[in-house]
Amino acid sequence: MDISEDDRDPGTEPSIGQLIERRLSRRGALTGLAGAAVLTALGGRVAEAQNGSPSSFTFKEVPHVNDPTHHVPDDYEVQVLIRWGDPVLPGAAAYDPTKQSGATQALQFGYNNDFLGLHPLPAGSTANDRFLMVVNHEYTNTNLMLAGIGEGREARLRADKPQVEIEMAAHGGSVLEIAREGRRWKVVDGSRHARRVDANTPMRIAGPAAGNARMKTATDQAGTQVLGMFNNCAGGETPWGTWLTCEENFYFYFAGETAKHPDQDLAKRYGLGRTVAYAWGQHFDRFNFEKEPNEPYRFGWIVEIDPYDPQAMPVKRTALGRFAHEGCHHAVAKDGRVVCYMGDDSRFEYVYKFVTSKPWNPTDRAANRDLLDDGTLYVARFDEGGKVVWLPLIHGQGPLTAENGFANQADVVIGARRAGDFLKATPMDRPEDIESNRVNGYVYVALSNNGSRKPEQVDGANPRAKNDHGHILEIAPRDGDHASTEGTWSILVAAGQPGKDAGTKYHPETSADGWLTCPDNVTFDSKGRLWIATDSGEIAGIADGLYACDVVGPGRALTRQFFAAPKGSEVCGPTFTPDDRTLFLAIQHPGEGKGSTYETPTTRWPDFKDGLPPRPAVIAITKKDGGPIGS
Ligand code: FEO
Ligand code: CA
Ligand code: CA
Repeated sequence: MDISEDDRDPGTEPSIGQLIERRLSRRGALTGLAGAAVLTALGGRVAEAQNGSPSSFTFKEVPHVNDPTHHVPDDYEVQVLIRWGDPVLPGAAAYDPTKQSGATQALQFGYNNDFLGLHPLPAGSTANDRFLMVVNHEYTNTNLMLAGIGEGREARLRADKPQVEIEMAAHGGSVLEIAREGRRWKVVDGSRHARRVDANTPMRIAGPAAGNARMKTATDQAGTQVLGMFNNCAGGETPWGTWLTCEENFYFYFAGETAKHPDQDLAKRYGLGRTVAYAWGQHFDRFNFEKEPNEPYRFGWIVEIDPYDPQAMPVKRTALGRFAHEGCHHAVAKDGRVVCYMGDDSRFEYVYKFVTSKPWNPTDRAANRDLLDDGTLYVARFDEGGKVVWLPLIHGQGPLTAENGFANQADVVIGARRAGDFLKATPMDRPEDIESNRVNGYVYVALSNNGSRKPEQVDGANPRAKNDHGHILEIAPRDGDHASTEGTWSILVAAGQPGKDAGTKYHPETSADGWLTCPDNVTFDSKGRLWIATDSGEIAGIADGLYACDVVGPGRALTRQFFAAPKGSEVCGPTFTPDDRTLFLAIQHPGEGKGSTYETPTTRWPDFKDGLPPRPAVIAITKKDGGPIGS
């Protein structure tokens, strides 16, 4: 998006927690919690060193580059699975950049693929060759999609109604049936599961905010149904096989002057009106909060979608709180309750988790249908010295009272950021993906960057002022139980270029190509090894990429670059098949950046044909000998 990085992920009003002076405790932050004894107790496997390197990975690193195409190690292969504009639904037109309309786009693959999830076919099987792939379409680079828009946010704000209709249909998500033949993957034509969800798809509102006065609008006087989702960044899946897709920077879509919103506290706290990035409010009244002040309350949620039932109405699960949701990955507590970890991706925002009230039912899928409507939302406080405390956001407890503006639990979840302020949660350096590692039981938090943190604002868990490169926290839940309200934390990696940027932390044998910047999405292979996708590499003059490192054993924190992305793009949605033999990546916004337009893009990846713009696409990476990725 050609608005500045500052605008892409705006910081908001200073929070109470942010104003508390904290002492830097780098010692606590950098020495790490992860003693071998702890790892052994958790059953963590120690990976074996290979070829004299402490790393368990054997792939040859790709170099740091910044050029128009992608790069993988020589013995790997990249296949483009699907691109923006390719047909998804029956009757979809073939992609033609000169003939896009809202109607054609609604049947085609959306723009800016981000989260990828794999749901096996048949459901519940351990298949490695047929899946429903769910894909988020986060936002549109309209300047690169359509001819004649020109450069920049101002140009995009002049989009006419038909152009806005294309944008709205290019947001949301897709469900694709995919199958493997040999090492080739294809999207199955005519699958009965195929689905597009966009900014106009009817969705049910469930949980504590449903029916609340602030959820009611002119067209929905019950406050229980909303049209669409947008800016869906990362996501997750539930143990019962539904897709969790996360609305992130929803405030970019609403026009209006902040001062004219009736709730100034919340409007400011959520950055409403601060940076309007699209012309939607000029053509549709619901996106103008001066005309429809409640519509913004209906976005910024976790949406649950059943990929196996294309007729099932998506549901906004308000119990999980409203903020700039990055992802929503789950772990199962010792007693079977489901724990969802979530980051609020803006500077100085918080880390959250949600714990269901009841255990999930592995033998009766329907019994889990509304499990996410009932539970406890927690916000994290990262104490000096390595302790994390999860603080419950429950109406009536502590300061979350009517006196402070919380008349009920709906007020708590709609204003989750304000509730976190009152509980003195720890303001973080842009919390992105948070994911538990099924092998060692730890939780990994990608903190992307925070160039706005001042020296007096550093703390143990965010130990660098002007943190342009981000870091990765590792959390050990107490007694290995994800429902526990306490745990310990340490810093696994502090990103940036060693020797150049202050305060970096890696394994000492990390190579000149292995350092990274701006960690965003993370995943694990079946051995529990960490894979890190980055967003905003150009801040360090390098392409974004995918990096791999061990988290236990002699190669711990030895990051190695496996993939480098085409110019202007970020790497999203890293997902392995269960056998580790295919790695899917979502390459988002190729060609984004200053001076890049439809007419003169900085890359035409992946087609590289004159007259065709760059196209976000999902790729499948395999090893030429068919072996596991990374080996
Ligand atoms: Fe959409 Fe947090 O990246
Ligand atoms: Ca992201
Ligand atoms: Ca990002």
